[in-house]
Amino acid sequence: MCTLCDVTVDKDTTPRPARSNGLPPFKAIAAIDEGRGLGMKGDLPWHLPEDLKHFARTTTATREAGRQNAVIMGRLTCETIPAKYWPLKDRRNAVITRNPEWSIEGADVFADLPGALRSLASQVETLYVVGGGQIYRLAVEQDACEELILTRIHKRYECDAFFPEYKDNYELYEKLGEGAHDGVPYSFERWRRKGL
Ligand SMILES: NC(=O)c1ccc[n+]([C@@H]2O[C@H](COP(=O)([O-])OP(=O)(O)OC[C@H]3O[C@@H](n4cnc5c(N)ncnc54)[C@H](OP(=O)(O)O)[C@@H]3O)[C@@H](O)[C@H]2O)c1
Repeated sequence: MCTLCDVTVDKDTTPRPARSNGLPPFKAIAAIDEGRGLGMKGDLPWHLPEDLKHFARTTTATREAGRQNAVIMGRLTCETIPAKYWPLKDRRNAVITRNPEWSIEGADVFADLPGALRSLASQVETLYVVGGGQIYRLAVEQDACEELILTRIHKRYECDAFFPEYKDNYELYEKLGEGAHDGVPYSFERWRRKGL
């Protein structure tokens, strides 16, 4: 049973300046196992409905009524989302691809992550990078990636997509809750970029 489960809306409403490399501040949200695994054969390696709810609540909630957040994802992650859930509702959907010919209804398409972040920053409340492995890697190497919202699943699964190493640059800031599903324990955590 989950002991949380409130939304992680940041209560700090102070406008944040763009960081030194010119990127606006953003967050990444991911569910990872004990080996930082996050995907297998284009799917999630686990079935964790509490995490899907946590993801939807967190990325949808805004401080200001009438605003939306952006969910920015790689093309492969976009293609794993079943048609009935596409686009992710009540959020601005954005997809990163190197293919200039590629497009999809319901999302803005960008050639790179910095371009997506810069373009969407003024239009949404919070920028969330939502995967997968390739795009998390691009995100976490940026100072502007100020927060990781991690569901840490305390078990190891067979995976072929991984979250990058993050503990050198981030510190645990807040434990939002924990629970277990079919005997598998997990915790919802916020990790903040060191030095902020
Ligand atoms: N556990 C979680 O929280 C979570 C969250 C999301 C996804 N996932 C899982 O992660 C897996 C997918 O992750 P993935 O790493 O294979 O793929 P991905 O990061 O979702 O998407 C990779 C694609 O992004 C584009 N891309 C990558 N780097 C780029 C760059 N520098 N510039 C422009 N475009 C770039 C390319 O698209 P083109 O090939 O079109 O150029 C590339 O094929 C799936 O198994 C999914 O279920 C897990």
